[in-house]
Amino acid sequence: MFIARTVLLTLAAAATTLASAAAYAQAAPELIGVRQGVMRSFNAQMGIVAAVGRGEITNTKLIEPVAAAINSIAKQLPALFPAGTGAEAGVRTRAKPEIWSKRADFVAAAAKLDEETTKLSAAIATGNAPAIAAAATSVTNNACNACHGVYRAAAQ
Ligand code: HEC
Repeated sequence: MFIARTVLLTLAAAATTLASAAAYAQAAPELIGVRQGVMRSFNAQMGIVAAVGRGEITNTKLIEPVAAAINSIAKQLPALFPAGTGAEAGVRTRAKPEIWSKRADFVAAAAKLDEETTKLSAAIATGNAPAIAAAATSVTNNACNACHGVYRAAAQ
């Protein structure tokens, strides 16, 4: 009786594992699509901020929510790169294996975006266009490009 019950429980656990593995295999391509979309939104948002440096946006208050949006997603960036969403997912992704093999460093690279966009928000609060442009360049170089240089493969 005890053995039968243990076998049944083991089978039930195995079935649950298989079901979640199947769900996950399906979820991975969707998640990759979401994170690539999030990355493109970063590009669009940084483009809006860059308009301040060109003098096309003079009411700097308008871009406060843009910097805040990037900052909010920056805090959740590692969650967009769970295990199993690299090349093994079988869809186009430029995510390099180092994202998982050097996890602590990758998490630090994501934290850099949090830090840099916090500084950007502080610069925006001053309303000073050259300071905002400098902070935006720092976000691009020290957060976006720094992470891409190590963790993003060349475009295929
Ligand atoms: C912590 C690392 C990291 C940071 C910070 C980061 N990215 Fe990315 N980015 C990646 C990785 C990895 C990919 C590849 C994702 C994939 O293909 O699955 C990527 C992809 C992209 C893409 C291509 C999306 C597509 O359609 O394939 C763009 C555009 C992009 N990032 C822009 C940005 C911008 C702008 C910033 C800064 C505001 C930024 N990223 C910050 C890691 C990062």
